[in-house]
Amino acid sequence: MVNIGILISGSGTNLQAIIDNINEGNIDGEIKLVISNKKDAYGLVRAEEAGIETLYLDRKEFSTDEEYNKKIMEEFTKRDVELVVLAGYLRILSKEFVQKYKNRIINIHPSLIPSFCGEGCYGERVHKMVLDYGAKITGATVHFVDEGTDTGPIILQKAVKVEDDDTVESLKEKVLKIEHELLPEAIKLYCQGRLSVEGRKVKIID
Ligand code: GRF
Repeated sequence: MVNIGILISGSGTNLQAIIDNINEGNIDGEIKLVISNKKDAYGLVRAEEAGIETLYLDRKEFSTDEEYNKKIMEEFTKRDVELVVLAGYLRILSKEFVQKYKNRIINIHPSLIPSFCGEGCYGERVHKMVLDYGAKITGATVHFVDEGTDTGPIILQKAVKVEDDDTVESLKEKVLKIEHELLPEAIKLYCQGRLSVEGRKVKIID
């Protein structure tokens, strides 16, 4: 059983997908703590309704990003968190955090990395960029987090077609559906010890 710590900033539909998969026995893990940098993140309500401990940490109450990240690490360490999941978390982790949890931090991004990712590419902006660019396919990517933004080794990806009549909203819905499959699947594989990282490549061990 793997202890999981989750960071969120918003509605938490990816968090809900993880909770549901744990409740259905698909993931051999337990969510020990959900931390949000946003007080009104609906994901906190989802966690509380599932009986999971939550914590809101206001960045403004800390002098530096490093101090803020130290506090998050402290709370996860107290609960023996082994795997950290970024489920719609919109802040950058400190270097110290990424090093402490090397190959133990998983993020979900709503595009096919390396397209439409990096600084400033998050949430609905990504889908608008895909449409404006005229791309014919998009999708979602689950990856380990390294010291770059959306640059860590890729664990899983899945594509979806962009239709001529797609809007930012319809594309977001299509991609979220994929996200809710991919992120629990990646966590399941991690908890089974079936992910092996070799340089930039992630191998799934049978
Ligand atoms: C998702 O699209 C995720 O890929 C991105 O932020 C969004 C969060 O959605 N990083 P939710 O809060 O899980 O519903």
